[in-house]
Amino acid sequence: MVKVKKIVMELDPYVPGRSIDEIASKYNINPDDIIKLGSNENPLGVSKKAVETLERGLDSIHQYPESNLEDLKDKVASYAGVKASNIIIGGDGADEILDVLGKALIEPGDEFIVPIPSYMYYEFTLRIYDGVPVYAKWDVEENKLDVGSVIDAISNKTKIIFLCTPNNPTGGLINQNDIKRVLDSTDTLVVVDEAYIEFAEGNNLNLLDEYDNLLILRTFSKVFGLAGMRIGYAISNPEFIELLHRVKPVFSLTKLSYAAASATLEDEEYIKNSIKIGIQSREFLYENMSKFHNIHVYPSKANYLLVDIRKTGINSGEFTEELLRRGVIVRDCKSFKGLDDYWIRVSVGTLEEDKRFIQILKSIIE
Ligand SMILES: Cc1ncc(COP(=O)(O)O)c(C=O)c1O
Repeated sequence: MVKVKKIVMELDPYVPGRSIDEIASKYNINPDDIIKLGSNENPLGVSKKAVETLERGLDSIHQYPESNLEDLKDKVASYAGVKASNIIIGGDGADEILDVLGKALIEPGDEFIVPIPSYMYYEFTLRIYDGVPVYAKWDVEENKLDVGSVIDAISNKTKIIFLCTPNNPTGGLINQNDIKRVLDSTDTLVVVDEAYIEFAEGNNLNLLDEYDNLLILRTFSKVFGLAGMRIGYAISNPEFIELLHRVKPVFSLTKLSYAAASATLEDEEYIKNSIKIGIQSREFLYENMSKFHNIHVYPSKANYLLVDIRKTGINSGEFTEELLRRGVIVRDCKSFKGLDDYWIRVSVGTLEEDKRFIQILKSIIE
């Protein structure tokens, strides 16, 4: 047997959301009848402009993609209101940027701070570089970052601090004063993960002028409806961005992903509509799920809702299984550190999907 690094032998596999094909074949359900509310995707589907551009782009995929991505960086920069030199674009989504940070910053034994529960991929990626996770606290009851726990966790080994806002899977926002308190406490890199920021009000770009240890992480997988194309980006100061480019895989953004990202950014109507539908669906689901006395749903600023199902007496494994049998995929949250076996996360759907989901939910819990 080939000898791999110790950490590779120890690593638990990452648990992603379930796919429609997997559930269709396991439960013998027509894929068209499945409602996928498990991976925080865009229920509107893809921008029509992106589809047209992709069709035209098929003819040139025998050529390598762009490596410097100047045109796309300009478009992303103008969308975000920053300069192209502030931007790095990842070809395996925002997850690739996390990997680039691991390559560029983490030496064996270095620490990174994650308030839990939060996005598990931070830990999954950085442990491969022998980074050591140090856990701070997200107060789930209050749906609020325990900022003191983050500051207390900082040591001279800390290399990255992750602050996810809105936080996945809880949906709560981090107050900008709390982000500033963390930035003021350290010279270490602070990654503010804004994967879902379009569904909330405001963002933290204004802090970039003040802090050169801030990196803002974003993705095309949510509001831009391109999860399957794997495009992410980060915004930080140009010197740091230049260093990150040195370790980023050169051709990771495919020609088709480039074309789809460009076309979607030009489709302002689609973006506006995606935000509107996402927020409407979130509020519809919140209002209707709040009517059930034996589940507790947390208010959210993202495109998903965290639900405490403890009072149903059914754990998340059994609960999600019951939903799957009826053709609904939601996220079982037991793989999120900091949550036990009684939490699920429900992503927004179309209004029609939401209504069907509420009926199915009712049939299980009442
Ligand atoms: C908080 C958060 N950050 C980053 C990502 C990664 O997004 P991408 O699909 O661009 O890799 C996700 C994906 O679900 C996420 O929830």
